[in-house]
Order: sequence, then structure tokens, then C-alpha cells
Amino acid sequence: MNSTAYEQRRSQIAHYFDRTAAEAWARLTSNEPVGRIRATVRAGRDQMRSTLLSWLPEDMRGLRLLDAGCGTGALALQAARRGAEVVAIDLSPTLVQLAAERIAAEHPQLPGTIRFAAGDMLAAELGHFDHVVCMDSLIHYDTPHIAQALATLAERTRASLLFTYAPRTPLLAAMHSVGRLFPRSDRSPALSPVRGEALQAALQAEPALAGWQAGRTQRIASGFYTSQAWEWHR
Ligand SMILES: C[S@@+](CC[C@H](N)C(=O)[O-])C[C@H]1O[C@@H](n2cnc3c(N)ncnc32)[C@H](O)[C@@H]1O
Repeated sequence: MNSTAYEQRRSQIAHYFDRTAAEAWARLTSNEPVGRIRATVRAGRDQMRSTLLSWLPEDMRGLRLLDAGCGTGALALQAARRGAEVVAIDLSPTLVQLAAERIAAEHPQLPGTIRFAAGDMLAAELGHFDHVVCMDSLIHYDTPHIAQALATLAERTRASLLFTYAPRTPLLAAMHSVGRLFPRSDRSPALSPVRGEALQAALQAEPALAGWQAGRTQRIASGFYTSQAWEWHR
């Protein structure tokens, strides 16, 4: 996918996670205490990670997994603990470096391997995978871009694609409009609330997803965190 709109969005997201939010994100994903609201987000994210991991094989020896938009690498770590050969990529070099440092310091010996990279998850050079996981890494893109990104990833994926989207709910719609009151410079890139049916239709219209089918789906809602996990498989 090479559209200008996608590149503009990607560059806003990269700037946000690499500069504006890198410190807050490092703290949220650490073991340090956080405020009450962020604690609900942390709990929701932990639940989401467990859900996605429960949809992957227990024994991942000999399997390649792409942690697409890996952030500080928590999911990559768990997959490598199961023996997977993981590629963990993120747009933010700062977060990728933090992930690599944390994992090297805290888990020097893993049954599997993790190769970290800074860049676009859609890069063809990353190769082919058995499983691809996009945990909350597509939530800032609109439905057509999510569908195109997943179609691009599907061409390189043997078994399953696991991803999350921000479901369109009245609460999210309200938060979205409140977000507009803040000065532009303080705002994160807006979430793109998605209707599951519209996303399913967009995915079914992608030729690269012919032969793929929707599998398990699970919504996680914890305080200020709401996200919907979805499995697609061949
Ligand atoms: C909300 S964070 C989630 C990080 C991680 N998956 C987790 O759950 O802890 C979204 C991440 O996706 C990354 N991201 C967004 N678009 C990307 C792209 N096209 N290629 C690689 N990473 C991307 C962002 O840089 C950001 O670190």
C-alpha cells in the first residue's frame, strides 16, 4: 500500500509514539505505579494481550511470528517464551530500542528469538510468517487502510492474523468529540472507531483475503480502554 493518505497518517502516528507519548508509553508498559485512569488502561491491555496469546499455539517452536507495531515488546516476549522466532517491528525507534533493552536485561535467555526493527510493519523485506499480531497498532487508521494493511500482511501469512480495532461505541464517540476541545498539539492522533460489519465487508472485498475467514472475536472494556480483538485465519 503506498497511498499518500496512509503515509500522512503513518507519519503522524510515528511522531506521536516516538516523541509526544514515548515517555508515557514507557511508563504505562513498565511495572511502575500509574494513576487510576491509566491503571484501567494497563489492566485492559494486559487482558487483551492474554486474549491474543490464548489464540496462538502454546508451543511455538519452529513458527515465525510478526509482532506488528510491537511498542515496548510485551507480546513479542511472550511469543519468544513459547519458542517462536519473532520479528518485532514498530514505527518508533525509541520504543523499539526500549523493548530491546528491557528484554535483554530482564530475559537474557529465551527459548525463541526476537529480531527488533524500526519501520513499517508492511515492509516486504520482513519475510513470511505463520502468525501476525497487530495489538492496537491499527486503531489509528480508518477502515479502508486497516483492510488494505491486513490484506498486505495476509499475503505473507500462513495461518492466522490477529488484530484489534476500536469498536464504534457511544462512549468512544463522546470521547472523540471531547478530544476535539484540546489544543491540536496535545492531542494523540484520533482513534478511528470502526463498525465490525463495515470492516468485515472491506476485508471480504480484498482479493488477498480470498480463502480467509473470520474466527474468534472478543471485546475488552476496562475503564478508559475499549478494544475488540479479531482472529482471521486461512
Ligand atoms: C497503541 S500502540 C500498541 C503497541 C503494542 N502493540 C502494545 O500493545 O503494547 C500502537 C503502536 O503501533 C505502532 N504502529 C502504528 N502503525 C504502524 C506501522 N504502520 N508500522 C509499524 N508500527 C506501527 C505505533 O508506533 C505504536 O507503537
